[in-house]
Amino acid sequence: MKKDLLSISDLSGVDIHSLMSDARELKAAGWVSLLERKTLALIFEKPSLRTRVSFEVAMRQLGGHAIYLSPAEVGLGQRESVADVARVLSRYVDAIAARTMSHRTLEALAKHAPVPVINALSDLEHPCQALADLLTIYEKKGELRGLTLAFIGDGNNVAHSLLLAASLAGMNFRIASPPGYAVKDEVLNLARRCDDSGAEIFCTSEPRLAVSGADVVYTDVWTSMGQEAEAEQRRQAFAGYQVNSELLSLAKRDAILMHPLPAHHGEEVAEGIAYGPQSVVFDQAENRLHLQKALLVRMLGGLEIPLAGYR
Ligand code: CP
Ligand code: NVA
Repeated sequence: MKKDLLSISDLSGVDIHSLMSDARELKAAGWVSLLERKTLALIFEKPSLRTRVSFEVAMRQLGGHAIYLSPAEVGLGQRESVADVARVLSRYVDAIAARTMSHRTLEALAKHAPVPVINALSDLEHPCQALADLLTIYEKKGELRGLTLAFIGDGNNVAHSLLLAASLAGMNFRIASPPGYAVKDEVLNLARRCDDSGAEIFCTSEPRLAVSGADVVYTDVWTSMGQEAEAEQRRQAFAGYQVNSELLSLAKRDAILMHPLPAHHGEEVAEGIAYGPQSVVFDQAENRLHLQKALLVRMLGGLEIPLAGYR
């Protein structure tokens, strides 16, 4: 694997395969001291529940530890340049996971930090979420290749990472977004380039078309962190894009419903549907932990996981 994980496009199909299999082994193994004496710094410019806690618990369960740095403490690029923060932190810790307003900040951190940098969500991508989502889909469906994922809503960070991950894993990806809120062309082109699997990519503005016969129906908030000023305008633009039981009924009978959380129940997902029988949203949240453990061991451990001795 590359030194950093800023984008799903930093991974190959083989990397994704290995991460899935390591994550499943680590999920079964629980606490294993594979990262003793290793420290992870968590720099967050935006709020978080899942990402912060799952990274902290992941390090603890692997025998290492994590240090959380809140936006106010570090003042990335304000109190100190991003490059200097990267240089200084690298003298103390073995890896940095960062949640930044701008993807450029992540790139600057990675450029100046000799230690690995992991994207814990930027405006452009959320790779840890997409990888945990693939793990969840694999657990529920027993395969990835050939499945169809329908994303309903904003062509945002979560959609970008899922699009790239689906292409690498051989899953068909359909997305229905209102005009003006489609995925970025640069990500679409990247996905088409990294797809050696023959998976289909289909963009539409019609949710029913996207969902029809899908194995996975996925949605995310209409207004992401940092876009709060656009909330009302977005509520209007996305009005016909709610995932409700009527839309879900157009997917396969055994389709699963996914959402990265936090959800706005009654907006992008109809009230109650995220607690229904097709929803796997809390499995997704749990799998953040297992997937990130696999990622940390690969990025920090460097060796094949010697799990056998820990069973
Ligand atoms: N899904 C996710 O990344 O959640 P948090 O924003 O709470 O970390
Ligand atoms: N698209 C959302 C994802 C949160 C996990 C956001 O960026 O706020």
